[in-house]
Amino acid sequence: MLFKRGNMRKKIIAANWKMNKDINETSDFISAFNTEMKDIDCPIEVVVCPPFTALYVAAKNLQESQVRLGAQNLHFEDDGAFTGEVSARMLQSLGVAYVIVGHSERRQYFGETDEVVAKKVKKALSSNLKVILCAGETLSERDGGVTEKVLERQVKAALGGLTAQDMANLVIAYEPIWAIGTGRNATPQQAEEAHAFIRSVVAEMFDRDVAAALTIQYGGSVKPDNAAQLLSQPDVDGALVGGASLKADSFAKIVKSCPFGKTA
Ligand code: 13P
Repeated sequence: MLFKRGNMRKKIIAANWKMNKDINETSDFISAFNTEMKDIDCPIEVVVCPPFTALYVAAKNLQESQVRLGAQNLHFEDDGAFTGEVSARMLQSLGVAYVIVGHSERRQYFGETDEVVAKKVKKALSSNLKVILCAGETLSERDGGVTEKVLERQVKAALGGLTAQDMANLVIAYEPIWAIGTGRNATPQQAEEAHAFIRSVVAEMFDRDVAAALTIQYGGSVKPDNAAQLLSQPDVDGALVGGASLKADSFAKIVKSCPFGKTA
């Protein structure tokens, strides 16, 4: 399927720090990264997603920067007796712009179902937070030939009931679970195939314009030496980076490898 408006799509590279960095390490990273970003010349949005405890410090340190702040999770209720949870409003008051929803680690280790993911997506969007929705298959699902089935199920469950306007504030990150933290990234063709498939599911659910405008990031062992190749694929509009985003110089190299050109 051809989606002609591909070049117009917003390109986003995001750092998912997972459960790493205290407030001192966060300040150190941001001052080093701000310096690295000064000479960047690429039409790309850069997002950093620290743990909750470092969001305040990150927000303070990013005040003069183009880099946007993201969180890694939220609860779908507004407030109440949910010990240990964090609401959309709390994130907003910190200046958070993006929130990652449905990361495979949340699904795998914290029992997040498609239903919970869908509730979180709705809460985030209705609270004016942009969503980075994660979807991806396990190795046995890939080997069993059900990758597309799994992606379709995850995407349809998470996006059901959303409007085209909601979709303008949502990004999908395709993150094959077998590629996360393993050093084994998807090949550019595997990434492209999955992204094109996800786009076709979104076209079926909404329409071709919504699908054509949707930013789809790739995540899973993105490194400075494989980023440009992955990002050169027509349906790959950015990256969600884990391990290689923990060092300012390595994350900056990934951002700088951006092949999108000045007119993207
Ligand atoms: P790695 O880049 O460490 O493989 O992690 C990817 C990821 O899970 C980003 O959300």
